[in-house]
Amino acid sequence: MTEDKLLIAQGLSKSFGGIKAVDNATINVHRGSITGLIGPNGAGKTTLFNLLSNFINPDRGKVIFDNQKIDHLSSHQIAQRGVIRTFQVARVLSRLSVLENMLLAAPKQTGENFFKVWLQQPKLRQEDRLNREKAMTILDSVGLAAKAYDYAGALSGGQRKLLEMARTLMVDPKLILLDEPAAGVNPTLIQQICQHINTWNQQGISFLIIEHNMDVIMSLCDRVWVLAEGTNLAEGTPTEIQNNQEVLQAYLGD
Ligand SMILES: Nc1ncnc2c1ncn2[C@@H]1O[C@H](COP(=O)(O)OP(=O)(O)OP(=O)(O)O)[C@@H](O)[C@H]1O
Ligand SMILES: [Mg+2]
Repeated sequence: MTEDKLLIAQGLSKSFGGIKAVDNATINVHRGSITGLIGPNGAGKTTLFNLLSNFINPDRGKVIFDNQKIDHLSSHQIAQRGVIRTFQVARVLSRLSVLENMLLAAPKQTGENFFKVWLQQPKLRQEDRLNREKAMTILDSVGLAAKAYDYAGALSGGQRKLLEMARTLMVDPKLILLDEPAAGVNPTLIQQICQHINTWNQQGISFLIIEHNMDVIMSLCDRVWVLAEGTNLAEGTPTEIQNNQEVLQAYLGD
């Protein structure tokens, strides 16, 4: 792996009232890597994701993605640059179909301006057809094509997580931030999710993954960052992290 850093976050801090949820934290993701982010409950991992994607504004710190500063951008603009995240509790719309959930994520080239839409009906129909084709291809690749017209609410918790991941592919992401992709997912589906992540990674997508399941971290990640009480505790290969006494202590003290 070269020193080609796709994401550099430096000195990020965020307090909620008196709680320093993230305190001068730093994290890097190399281009092409699957990087892990671990730490005990309440360590600030999800808050760090919120800061990276600007769902919450940081008190301090900077974020550079693909050699450009992104910390001043909105979460929507950050997504347009190619950084897409999923949520600890999957955010799919239960009363829409699986396919509609996919289509909601599709970028709208033509836009939503009324007159533009009216004037560009043929182009819009073409765009819609291509988006549907793309969505069905992605659903097929993750084994959800047969459920395309079912309500997303009818999916199992694990399938909902899979759908949320599949949806990120609608916008051709460069970096996907996954918040606990294996939590509450049955072991068979966890294995499938790991295989999909590896496949997408081989296709050029980088990943930053928060996960408590150490088997998932060990099998997927080339690099692991450890947060504890909002700050950096360690960084290394999965094996180095597994043998790090300080990390062990942080978890035992949980
Ligand atoms: N919006 C908020 N308002 C107040 N406190 C918050 C908020 N979000 C997070 N916190 C607090 O910040 C700290 C870090 O929370 P965070 O959810 O980032 O941890 P985490 O590492 O993702 O934990 P877990 O592994 O349990 O998901 C916790 O003490 C949490 O209670
Ligand atoms: Mg969390």
